[in-house]
Amino acid sequence: MKAIVLSGGKGTRLRPLTYTGAKQLVPIANRPILSYVIDNIARVGIKDVGIIISPETGSEVKETMGDGSKWGIKITYIMQSEPKGLAHAVKTAAEFLGQDPFVMYLGDNLIGCGIEKFVDTFNSTKADAVILLKPVDNPQSFGVAQADESGRIVCLEEKPKNPKSNLALVGVYIFSPEIHKAIANIKPSPRGELEITDAIQDLITRGAPVQSHILDTWWLDTGKKDDLLAANTIVLDEWFKRDIRGKVDNSQVTGRVTIEEGAIVKNSTLRGPIVIGSNSIVEDSFIGPFTSVGNNSRIYKSIVEHSVILSGAELSHVDRLEDSLIGRNAKVRKCHDKHQALRLMIGDDSVVEV
Ligand code: G1P
Repeated sequence: MKAIVLSGGKGTRLRPLTYTGAKQLVPIANRPILSYVIDNIARVGIKDVGIIISPETGSEVKETMGDGSKWGIKITYIMQSEPKGLAHAVKTAAEFLGQDPFVMYLGDNLIGCGIEKFVDTFNSTKADAVILLKPVDNPQSFGVAQADESGRIVCLEEKPKNPKSNLALVGVYIFSPEIHKAIANIKPSPRGELEITDAIQDLITRGAPVQSHILDTWWLDTGKKDDLLAANTIVLDEWFKRDIRGKVDNSQVTGRVTIEEGAIVKNSTLRGPIVIGSNSIVEDSFIGPFTSVGNNSRIYKSIVEHSVILSGAELSHVDRLEDSLIGRNAKVRKCHDKHQALRLMIGDDSVVEV
């Protein structure tokens, strides 16, 4: 079995962060989302993984993920020159996939478990497709499936106005090579894309077995700021332990706090779960639970809680920062002059609440 991971797209919902980087590389607890995806694929023993990239962010994705040796797998990069849909991405990867069954994983989806059970369902049912489903409150925003009692899919629709169920398609699928024939049969959707949902519906129409698996843990589609903070909170809470490799000087460090190599924490209070990236400096500050501080950042005389601070950022004399997402190399500092004006240089699509 092989795998393809989709890592193109524009990430419009995470602007301005995604003006300068791929949405799949936005870090959750200091690791790119894509790393968690590859963890899950490598854990089921798949060795051959294709990452579908776009001309805009492809080189950054390649540079960050490398050749796969970190995971003991081989990564092949496949360029999709235009974002023409998920089924189009499979078409682009046809040569890489050959006649092998494969996992297709959307690179910005984070789930709270591995995919072992899901692969077992594919192997035991001999289905041509297995899709992962999760009940949601807003099925209109997703692909929606109707299943019978045995989990066999009866019908599928992409972002229906009147959904027939509340079961959304999570961005993880397993296919037999039959999917290539189905993709050859479909036409672009009203949004101009070749939808994988339509290709799976084509399999069903032709009587091919399509099975489902209900996800019983959390699923985060990390498209927006609040989703990203929620993902950061869950990952820090569930997967991080106390691990102090940096230097701690005259500070109180309580709970599950990870301090990476080369980081320095001085005259500060840290209450986990927190991760502080390598070569960052935290001085005269309080850092509260569910905060990730990227590499090479500096936090000075500040109070921060439930926030994601990306690499190279600087906070200085910030009285209290909460529920915030601070971009790479951004600076937030208190101004000490008499008339307390705000002086801002804010990127396009930023949001500041003062
Ligand atoms: C895509 C799929 C949709 C699925 C969703 C999961 O939607 O088309 O069926 O439910 O991913 O994240 P998109 O993110 O392209 O809008």
